[in-house]
Amino acid sequence: SPSDPHLVERARAAKEKLGSKVFVLGHHYQRDEVIQFADVTGDSFKLARDAAARPEAEYIVFCGVHFMAESADILTSDDQKVVLPDLAAGCSMADMATAEQVAECWDVLTEAGVAEQVVPVSYMNSSADIKAFTGKHGGTICTSSNAEKALNWAFEQGEKVLFLPDQHLGRNTAVRDLGMSLDDCVLYNPHKPNGGLTVEQLRNAKMILWRGHCSVHGRFSLESVEDVRARIPGVNVLVHPECKHEVVSAADYVGSTEYIIKALEAAPAGSKWAIGTELNLVRRLANRFAPEGKEIVFLDKTVCFCSTMNRIDLPHLVWTLESLAEGNLVNRIEVDRETEQFAKLALERMLALP
Ligand code: 13P
Ligand code: SF4
Repeated sequence: SPSDPHLVERARAAKEKLGSKVFVLGHHYQRDEVIQFADVTGDSFKLARDAAARPEAEYIVFCGVHFMAESADILTSDDQKVVLPDLAAGCSMADMATAEQVAECWDVLTEAGVAEQVVPVSYMNSSADIKAFTGKHGGTICTSSNAEKALNWAFEQGEKVLFLPDQHLGRNTAVRDLGMSLDDCVLYNPHKPNGGLTVEQLRNAKMILWRGHCSVHGRFSLESVEDVRARIPGVNVLVHPECKHEVVSAADYVGSTEYIIKALEAAPAGSKWAIGTELNLVRRLANRFAPEGKEIVFLDKTVCFCSTMNRIDLPHLVWTLESLAEGNLVNRIEVDRETEQFAKLALERMLALP
């Protein structure tokens, strides 16, 4: 628990011993007991930039999930070591697009005669392999805080976008921010022959959405929004763009974790908010802003934590820091050179977006 004095003391001592050799990054969805030891906290985009801005740190301890640690490894120098405190901290969404499936999809697009018009845009929440595919085919990475810019950029390069792997972020951004219609989007199902699409559908589509989703955000429903509005009159509904289109359409505000925090910082005293994102963050914000008279509730009580984010706990962090302090490099995340080269291209295109 966050208050286990023994573990807190050990984490503090190991971190002190390591000094500037270690830099600890914490995603907003991490537990409080872990966040208290983060040198910086942020959303996926901010953390990718922050990781790249610490060339003096020998160890980057990434308290987040596997794809974030991979991205940090890609963006940092070869002699910097990125460490994930629990190797089982994956992401179910990232796992929904494998390199083989995406290569097969590209073959389908090639056979349909549309591949030359397609620019891939991959959400940060994807493996390094998918990022490399994206870089190789002239595409960019995006996060939930720059998806609109990334899509605008992509439509300057080509007529169609293949959006991987989160169908919801892709659809929400295309429809809400770029003013497309739902009919401009088709859903590519990697488990069906030809993605379950006809050649004509592929030729007519502007947005080809990969059939992936976040298992946490996918559980918020239109009913969650209607219920909270009935329960709390005047409530502002603020959700993450990984939520379904119907949820995002019914919400008042939509944005990344960093956006959610800024919106609540700027909210007036007495305002009421229902937040549709991961529970660790919502609880932390509810506690932080309660003294200012801002009432913050979780959008749907039946939705729970992101189980993989939660794998990073204080015992894992203590073990990691103590191992590093004793000179044992544990749980290193290292992307191979060829993958890194192409994935970096795609990540750098994102970092160069206006
Ligand atoms: P952001 O921090 O970019 O909003 O991403 C949310 C998320 O699901 C990370 O796994
Ligand atoms: Fe993946 Fe969703 Fe968890 Fe983020 S919240 S790490 S997208 S499963």
